[in-house]
Amino acid sequence: MAILNILNYPDPRLHTIAKPIEVVDKSINKLIDDMAETMYSAPGIGLAATQVDRHLQLILIDISETKDSLKIFINPKIIESSGQQVYEEGCLSVPDVFESVTRAERVKVQALDREGESFELAVDGLLAICIQHEMDHLLGKVFVEYLSPLKRYRIKTKIKKRTKERFIKS
Ligand code: NI
Repeated sequence: MAILNILNYPDPRLHTIAKPIEVVDKSINKLIDDMAETMYSAPGIGLAATQVDRHLQLILIDISETKDSLKIFINPKIIESSGQQVYEEGCLSVPDVFESVTRAERVKVQALDREGESFELAVDGLLAICIQHEMDHLLGKVFVEYLSPLKRYRIKTKIKKRTKERFIKS
C-alpha cells in the first residue's frame, strides 16, 4: 500500500469529471487499498479518487470512530433522496476550512463493491452527507463552491497565504 498525494483546492485538476469504472480489476483494488491508507493517515472520513488525481468514479468513506467500517462505492448513483440537513463540512483538499452546507437528509445509493457486485444502501445523517460530498468530487465539485463568492475568495486567499508561509519556512 502507498500514501497518495492529495490535491489541494484550488488545484484545477479537482474540477475534472471522473469516468465510470468499466472493470473492477486488481488495479482498482490496489487503488482502493492505497486510497484507504491515504484517507486513514490524513486522517479523514471520506476520499474520492479525484482528490488523488485519479479520475475514476470511486469513493471511500469510514465515519466510524474505530476506523474499521470502510465503505467503498464504485460508480455510485443516488437513486432516491429526501429531506434537508445542514452540516459544517470539511475536506482533505481544503485543509482547516469548515463551512455549513445544505444537503439531502436521506439518500439511497446504488453502486458496485470491490468485487464488482452491485448493491443498494439507504442512509441518513452524516453518512448521507459524506456520500453526497464525495460524489460531488467525482463531478469536479468542491464543497466550497456552495458558498458565496466572497467566502470562497477569502478561503483561496487564506490557502495561498498558508502555502507561501510554508514555502518561506522550508
Ligand atoms: Ni472533500
